[in-house]
Amino acid sequence: VPGVGEQVGIVGRDAELRALHGALDALARGESPTVVLHGEPGTGKTLLLRELRDAARGRGYAVASGTATELERSVPFRPVVDALEEFGQDLGGLAPAQRAELSAVFPGHGGGARGGILPAERYLLHDAVRRLLELVAADAPLVLALDDLQWADEASLELLAHTMRRRPRAPVLLALAHRSREAPPPLLDALTRDDALTELELRPLSPDEADELLGPGVPAPRRRALYAESGGNPFYLTELARAGDVAATAGAAGGGTVPRTVAASIRCELARLPECTRLALQAAAVSGDPFEPGLVAEIAEVPRDRVLEVLDDLQALELVRPAESPGRFRFRHPIVRRAVYESSGDGFLLAAHARAAAALARRDGSLAARAHHVERSALPGDDAAIELLSEAGRTGAGRAPAAAARWFGAALRLLPDGDGRRLELLVPYATALAAAGRVDECRAALIEALDLLPEQLELARARLTGLVAGVDHMRGEPEAARALLVRALAEIEDGDSAAACALRLELALDHWLANDWREMAGAARGVLAHARALGDRQLEAEAAALAALGEYYLGRSLPDAEAALAEARLLLDALPDHELAGCVRAALFLGQAAFGMEQHDAAAAVLRRGIDVARSTGQEYWFVALLSARAVAEIWRGRLPLAQEHSEAAAEASHLLGNDQMLVAAHSVLTWTLTLRGDVDGALASAEAARSAFGRAPASALGWLPHCTFAAALVEAGDPDRASAVILSQAGGEDLSAIEPSFRVHWYEVLARADLARGRPEEAAAWLERAEELAAALPLEGRVAELRRAGAEVALASALPEDAAALAREAADGFRRCRQPLDAARAELVLGRALAAAGEEREATRVLLGAREQLAACHADGLVRDAERELGELREDGGAGELAALTSRELEVAGLVATGMTNREIAARLVLSDRTVERHLARIFAKLGIGSRAALAAAVERGRVAR
Ligand SMILES: Nc1ncnc2c1ncn2[C@@H]1O[C@H](COP(=O)(O)OP(=O)(O)OP(=O)(O)O)[C@@H](O)[C@H]1O
Ligand SMILES: [Mg+2]
Repeated sequence: VPGVGEQVGIVGRDAELRALHGALDALARGESPTVVLHGEPGTGKTLLLRELRDAARGRGYAVASGTATELERSVPFRPVVDALEEFGQDLGGLAPAQRAELSAVFPGHGGGARGGILPAERYLLHDAVRRLLELVAADAPLVLALDDLQWADEASLELLAHTMRRRPRAPVLLALAHRSREAPPPLLDALTRDDALTELELRPLSPDEADELLGPGVPAPRRRALYAESGGNPFYLTELARAGDVAATAGAAGGGTVPRTVAASIRCELARLPECTRLALQAAAVSGDPFEPGLVAEIAEVPRDRVLEVLDDLQALELVRPAESPGRFRFRHPIVRRAVYESSGDGFLLAAHARAAAALARRDGSLAARAHHVERSALPGDDAAIELLSEAGRTGAGRAPAAAARWFGAALRLLPDGDGRRLELLVPYATALAAAGRVDECRAALIEALDLLPEQLELARARLTGLVAGVDHMRGEPEAARALLVRALAEIEDGDSAAACALRLELALDHWLANDWREMAGAARGVLAHARALGDRQLEAEAAALAALGEYYLGRSLPDAEAALAEARLLLDALPDHELAGCVRAALFLGQAAFGMEQHDAAAAVLRRGIDVARSTGQEYWFVALLSARAVAEIWRGRLPLAQEHSEAAAEASHLLGNDQMLVAAHSVLTWTLTLRGDVDGALASAEAARSAFGRAPASALGWLPHCTFAAALVEAGDPDRASAVILSQAGGEDLSAIEPSFRVHWYEVLARADLARGRPEEAAAWLERAEELAAALPLEGRVAELRRAGAEVALASALPEDAAALAREAADGFRRCRQPLDAARAELVLGRALAAAGEEREATRVLLGAREQLAACHADGLVRDAERELGELREDGGAGELAALTSRELEVAGLVATGMTNREIAARLVLSDRTVERHLARIFAKLGIGSRAALAAAVERGRVAR
């Protein structure tokens, strides 16, 4: 019964169709919904997607549609390229860098993409695709339909997840389909995070619907038999009906399951085809779905005209049908393609894939497409294939590391044992595996490389051992890392050799990660002395940088720390970039030591250099760590937008690497940045991300950082109780013993500010006293200034405005000397308040105006608002009376409550969340000892009158 079901249109599925039209209505309203269709094979997902696309076109919407395919699941970005290729032609509205990103993925764009992209930077491509979607959807709402996602490659899924996480700022309906039980975990993961998701599960048809589908041409008893056999699956129903006698085909399949019966019936259908037709069809199955007749002709080795004739027959038999793009054809169903492919002999497939690869090479086909065929046709020892697969691996490493790992792996399998090229491929293979988040396989590849490395190459072996130890740390197995290093060190005869030094440096790092700063500093100094004697400049630079960091961490002596830092800077500056590339983490150590020692410009410079070198040499682990460190340097320099940009980039990159330790660091720094910018809700959201990554991450150094930055955000969010509790419980108690000594002062200031906000100036003063000792051991100007600034706030809260002014002035001067303009302005903000409280309004106004200008230059928007509020109060000329206990933010909230605004309105006005306003209000009530908004309004009123 040819054409069963074809004429009847869609049977049943009313609810699903309503939901699809509902999604289009939402799109018309400017929303960006997601619809996911799933069900068993053959339940009508593709049919409903087609219906959706037709309806969308009918409304004049733009439609992009792509399909993943079973055999090509290793080809990166296939469904995405399939969907967006036609839009990828006109990229005029994109920035050149984004255009270049897209051209790396869309074929026929003549390249121009930055080659040296790191896997960790592949979000740049994702951003470019989002931008492209926005451009397309700017003219008309866009439906992006992606089918058969159970076969999507990792790179496409990652791009999709990114698009769902960061929706284009234009109406885009994502319509996704996948087979229920075969969905890849990253897809399910992305779907569960989508709040705008409508899930449609396609179940079997009812008996009545099946009757309707089969039509009156099929006699009722036969319809019942078909229903029983197919279980109501529309594809099986129509296939079995096509096959004629159900019993006969079931017999041919050996009484197997329905899918096997259907496959058997398709095989029967194929067996009836003339030889040449079958051959062309098999060549088509090798070529792809959709396929193009010219390529099929080359694979089948028959003239193109002959293929076109055959295609007419195949269309008449409904084995293939025209595809949406002109000049191409599709199989009736993926199951048919698979049956055709599987009906081909192994020898034919091998030869056919080889011819496909050769044909694509002649046509300048993409490396990815060629690699796909080569992988399926090459024989061991095939040098050209090994070269092509390695090349595809190298090219794909940046944007599609999972595919790159596959190709490197394929190339390695073709290499004979003992071939020298194995070693060359293993390290990039391991890198791609790490980038794809497959650390266990990465470790195995590195170990194999280590086994292959000759004994004499001691130093290279030591470096590689260091890499394995690093991977062990990433896997949360520090003991394994240490054991490996100790064992490797024991195997080296000459304890003074460069290899022994290199291993000892790794052990020093190991101490760092274990928060054992003393051991770390000592070990680094030891390596430094040895490396100097050996004349190994890289090792020397690395050890010097780590030793400088160790001196700073210990916080014992300013001259020692300064000398160590100066020495490391000299050594690194003397290294040309290509040598720094061999020890790029030295830039990270030095950068951290430099901003710790308040040499912020030097820190930014060395970190910038490190980022460039790491990027251009593909060392993405260090690249990401350097990005986060650079963000910190920019925070100190008061360049908050830059800090935000770098920490966001680091967060994206860590996310892509699947590295939770790095995600913790990036989000902590972002929290810190956003807190200073005055984006309290953004800061809390980032803190949440940091803390949840922390929950997943294997133990690592800096475990206190996400909690402490969270606490600083909590102080601004009006929850100082929780802020104190978080710091004290997560940073090693009242001694803050988890934090390196030299950095504790900073967090004591946060504790002090929290206690001031809680109305406890004595407790605040006690924290500062503890900090005083630490600052005396390592009297860095900025650290001392932090103490003075906090001291000023304590004095102000204790009604000692003159003392407060003196301390704040001292703080501002200190900050300016160490070039921390944002901190200086914050000190001036305190100074302004102190002067106002001391009755020196004119001077206060002058100071506050200056502070406001500086804060605005730093884009510290929240602090700018604080400065403006203080200035406003000065203009209104007067104190706040009983409201004196309130912070300036609380005063602001109180003032708005008095005007009769609701919490929601206040939240909107101050760009805060409702919860933050509630918290402020609770605190105001507690401080003033009142319990109602009316009482608060009265207090505010009294305050006004008093002025
Ligand atoms: N409700 C329906 N009414 C009419 N025909 C249907 C219906 N559902 C499916 N069909 C037909 O059944 C066949 C299989 O449907 P379709 O290809 O959409 O399934 P699918 O869910 O996409 O399967 P797969 O998971 O294998 O891709 C098609 O020929 C389609 O036209
Ligand atoms: Mg389908």
